[in-house]
Amino acid sequence: MSEFITVEQINAAVDAIHKRTKQSPQVGLILGSGLGDLAESVKPADFIDYKDIPGWPVSTIQGHKGRLVIGDLEGTTVLIMQGRAHYYEGYPISQIGFPIRVMKKLGIEKLIVTNAAGAINPEYNPGDVMIITDHLSLMAMGGENPLRGPNLDEFGPRFPDMSRCYDEKLIEQTEAVSNAKSISFHKGVYVCLAGPSFETPADLRFLRSIGADAVGMSTVPEVIVAVHSGIQVLGFSGISNKANLDGSTVTTHEEVLQAGKAIAPKLETIIRGLLAKM
Ligand code: HPA
Repeated sequence: MSEFITVEQINAAVDAIHKRTKQSPQVGLILGSGLGDLAESVKPADFIDYKDIPGWPVSTIQGHKGRLVIGDLEGTTVLIMQGRAHYYEGYPISQIGFPIRVMKKLGIEKLIVTNAAGAINPEYNPGDVMIITDHLSLMAMGGENPLRGPNLDEFGPRFPDMSRCYDEKLIEQTEAVSNAKSISFHKGVYVCLAGPSFETPADLRFLRSIGADAVGMSTVPEVIVAVHSGIQVLGFSGISNKANLDGSTVTTHEEVLQAGKAIAPKLETIIRGLLAKM
C-alpha cells in the first residue's frame, strides 16, 4: 500500500461506488465502535462492502461491519460508513483519510463522525454523549498528519486553517434537537491517540492537564482531511468508560461495545432529528 494517496486512486474508488449505486448522498456518516445499527434504518439501501472498493481501508476490528450503506434517512440521502479503519491496524495515516476524499468527490458537503471514547473529564459517565467542540491531535503534532505528502490542490490548500473544525451552526442545531428530545449532552474536547493500547494513569493525567475531556483512537485524522476539503463537520463521542486516571479500574474493548448499546439510541434520535431538518 502506498504511503500517499493520489487523485487517480480516489477516482477509481468513486467509479466503483457509482457502478453500485444510483443515489447521490449529501451527508456522510461514520459510525464508530458499537454504534453501527443506525445504518439498518436506511431505505432503500445500497450496500457496498469496503473490500469491493479499490483503495478503501478495511477494518479488522470486532464491532465494525466494514461496508457502505447508501440511502434515505429522514428525507436526506446519506452515505454511512458502518465501521472504519484505524491507524493502529497498520494503515499509513494518509489512508485513514481516503474515504473522506472519496466522499468529497461524491458531492458530500456535511460529515457526521461518531466514536466511542473514554471519559477524562471526571463529570462524564459511561452512556453519556459529548458533542465535540474541538480536538487535540497529538498524532498530527508528532508528525502523523493525514495531509502529509504531496498536497492534492483540487481538495484544498497546502496549509489549511483548523481554527473551527467543528461547524458552529451544526453544533447549535444539535443542541436544539437534543434539548427538544430531552437528551442531555456534554460539549468538550476530544483527543486522538494512536492506540491500540489504552492509556496509563500518567498518560491520562497528562491529557487532562492539556485540556482533553474524552480520549479515543479515531476521528481526528478524518476530520483534518474533511476540513481541508471544505466539508462541514459535526462530531460526537459516545462515552464508553471512565478513563483510569488513578489506576483503580481496567478498560476493555467489551466494555466499549457494551456502552455503545446505551449510547446508540440517543445518538440515533439526535442524528435523525438533525437529518430531518437538513
Ligand atoms: N481510551 C482510548 N480509546 C477509547 C477508550 C479509552 O478509554 N474508550 C473507548 N475508546
